[in-house]
Amino acid sequence: MSGPTGDLTPSDQGQPPVDPGDGGVHGGPGALLDPHDAVSRRTLFTISGAAALAGTTMGITAGGLAAQMTRTRRSPDTAPDTAPVPRLAPTDMTVTSGDLPHGLADPVPAFGTLLAFDVTPAARRTSHTTRAAASAFLRGTGPIPTQPSGGVGVSGLDLSPTNLQVTPGIGASLLDAVGLAGRRPEAFVDLPRFAVDRLDPRVCDGDLLVQVGAEDPMRLAGAVQQVLSLAGDGVRLRWSRSGFKATAAASQHPTGTPRNLMGHRDGSANPPLGTVRWDYTVRVPTPGWMRDGSYLVVRQIRIDLTRWFAEPADVRDRAIGRDTTSGAPLGGHGEFETADLSARDASGQPVIPRSAHLRLANQVNTRAARTYRRSWNYDDGFDGFDASGRRQAGLVFVAWQSDICRGSTPIQQSLDAGHDGLSDYLTHFGSAVFAIPARGDDDYPGQSLLES
Ligand code: HEM
Repeated sequence: MSGPTGDLTPSDQGQPPVDPGDGGVHGGPGALLDPHDAVSRRTLFTISGAAALAGTTMGITAGGLAAQMTRTRRSPDTAPDTAPVPRLAPTDMTVTSGDLPHGLADPVPAFGTLLAFDVTPAARRTSHTTRAAASAFLRGTGPIPTQPSGGVGVSGLDLSPTNLQVTPGIGASLLDAVGLAGRRPEAFVDLPRFAVDRLDPRVCDGDLLVQVGAEDPMRLAGAVQQVLSLAGDGVRLRWSRSGFKATAAASQHPTGTPRNLMGHRDGSANPPLGTVRWDYTVRVPTPGWMRDGSYLVVRQIRIDLTRWFAEPADVRDRAIGRDTTSGAPLGGHGEFETADLSARDASGQPVIPRSAHLRLANQVNTRAARTYRRSWNYDDGFDGFDASGRRQAGLVFVAWQSDICRGSTPIQQSLDAGHDGLSDYLTHFGSAVFAIPARGDDDYPGQSLLES
């Protein structure tokens, strides 16, 4: 395996050296279930890509299945270069969503807001009062997705029913404050300090998180207001960040990989939603209060778009390692083609440069780390220009994983060690990790922990 510097060795083939998600190829779905990777008792594995095609899969949400079906129907022969290519392979068998954090098994909505809260100093008097404040807040987020129009704010007035995802989570600082540090799972680690960190502590961390997502910005604004109305004496806002991507209505290919503000498709190498590989990547398999939950890493990353777009197109593509238009890895043709990391050009140089983001973030260089990226773009508009006239815009990087030690941490370490070609244009100013429990049999996510 090549090191993080991206040296090219014969084994540097773009395929992870260890990929439990490939069990479907080598030994059928059962091969995935080694004891370490045991899948939830609530998870019902289904059949095969063929069953997904037939639409017999149960449990995956309607939106998620619709996306899968759309992807499945398109023929690779007729698809234009820029269209998403179907990816159903034996490794991509559809699983049911079971009981995961709200919205995770659904397509990413066009608009999202992350709100981080702290328990107030007044409520923090004792661990008992802290627990009570956190429990009341988390319980309050439960009814929001189903609340009828006319609640706080503009939630549903005049709007057709549309998807709304309200996903609460818990920060490590809360566990400390309520005397439950001993129940912190091993997979729920803080991020180490990274070379790229330029962090502003005011927009990092938090005792509690709520991620709100909606396909409509008015619906989102109303739901955010409802979440904020839950804050009061017990809990107060610490930071928030809103983001967006192309809406389904405006997209030529609504189920295709969305683009970031740098122009590239972002998420091409994600495990396809609803597949065994996806489930393995996001779902916590171990017993305990986080079973069927997931860990969320949020990074607020400003992008110097002026500098980026001053570069010629080929320089930009080489920094990423992909072609802007098609999304194909350099040297390849289709977006979902495996990147050939060993390919060299006529002068003997790697086709995908040593410092390309794709190479350094690839599993061969990250000890087979796994995440499911579900980011939004952000743009602070006119008020967001800083004193030097730089636009304040970038990416709310949102990555889900079953284990942070085998997810975001080794990936960012590889990007740091290899001097990621993107990093010259980026400023990482916000960072946080949250445990996002599934609701399971609880009245609200985290109840079995906080009321234990
Ligand atoms: C503003 C910041 C970032 C931008 C604009 C960005 C953009 C991209 C783009 C365009 C791709 C290629 C398409 C794809 O597979 O999604 C990519 C791949 C990837 N990025 Fe990033 N990224 C950013 C930050 C990060 C960070 C902070 C991490 C993790 C710590 C990360 C992890 C990955 C991974 C794992 C891949 C897939 C690599 C592969 O092909 O195997 N990215 N990113």
